[in-house]
Order: sequence, then C-alpha cells, then structure tokens
Amino acid sequence: MGVGWRIAVVHGPNLNMLGLREPERYGTTTLADIDDELASVAAEAGASLSSYQSNSEGDLVTHLQGLRDTADGVLINPAAYTHTSVAIRDALLAVALPTVEVHLTNTHAREEFRHHSTIADIVVGRVMGFGRLSYVLGLNGLLEHLGHSGGIRQGERG
Ligand code: DQA
Repeated sequence: MGVGWRIAVVHGPNLNMLGLREPERYGTTTLADIDDELASVAAEAGASLSSYQSNSEGDLVTHLQGLRDTADGVLINPAAYTHTSVAIRDALLAVALPTVEVHLTNTHAREEFRHHSTIADIVVGRVMGFGRLSYVLGLNGLLEHLGHSGGIRQGERG
C-alpha cells in the first residue's frame, strides 16, 4: 500500500494554533506533531508527503492549484473555510485529485453553521471527531483508495 504516492496535506486557518487553541476541544497536539506523525505513516507505506498550512483562502487556493502536477492525492482540513469556501471547492474540482476531508472535531455535533461542508460531495471520504487520529485514519483511507484506483483522477473513472 502507498508505494510512491505523493500525498499533499493541506491545513486551513487557525490550525497553526493547535496546542494553544481551545485545548479542551482540539487537544494539546501541535500541528507539527500531526505533520510529523503523518510523515512517518506515509514513509512506512512508501509514500511521500508534503504539508502546507495557511490562514488565507487565496493562498490555499493557489497552493491547491499547484498540486495538479505534483501530488497524487490530497488530505485536507479546510478548518473554518470548510463551511464557507466555494473557492476551495472549485480549486479541488480544478485539480481533480482524489481528496479526503478530515476534521479534528465532529462538526455535526457543534453549531449548525459547521454542519455544512462545501466539499463533502466531491471528496472520496470524510473522517471527523477523532482528534489528531482523524488525520491518520484519513491518510490510510486515501492511500488505500489510491491503491485501488490506480491513482486515477476524480472524474476520469467510468
Ligand atoms: C475544524 C472544524 C471547523 O468547524 C473549525 O472552524 C476548525 C477546525 C476541525 O478540525 O474540527 O477550525 O475543521
């Protein structure tokens, strides 16, 4: 599983504050801890992994556009932009890479405005509610999916 796949991890706004930010809700693990753990899970599976975080919607869109020829799959936590961003949805549609959506918290158990995701219907799968483990489960799911699909871009399958 995972041999040679290039995985791009993308983190949205305020996730750079993990560890300090509402620790009772998001835990004390830092973003660097999460990225380190994902890098070792990927390495064990023979995949390579890059991580990117931005607080800016435009920078996230530009980064996603650049993944078209440099990644085979995307693991994304768009954070607050999950609930609002048509631009991130459109960027994911443009790059057409298999994508897994992850969230630390179960957004459906929180305020109503967090129940909607602009990308829920265009991703391979979603993992939420397991804290940092959501990312690990999501990465394993993405690698498994890539293995079965042969890395075919979304929309190219019959
Ligand atoms: C989050 C959930 C979002 O509603 C929130 O805005 C975040 C983090 C999560 O990982 O649980 O910033 O995406």
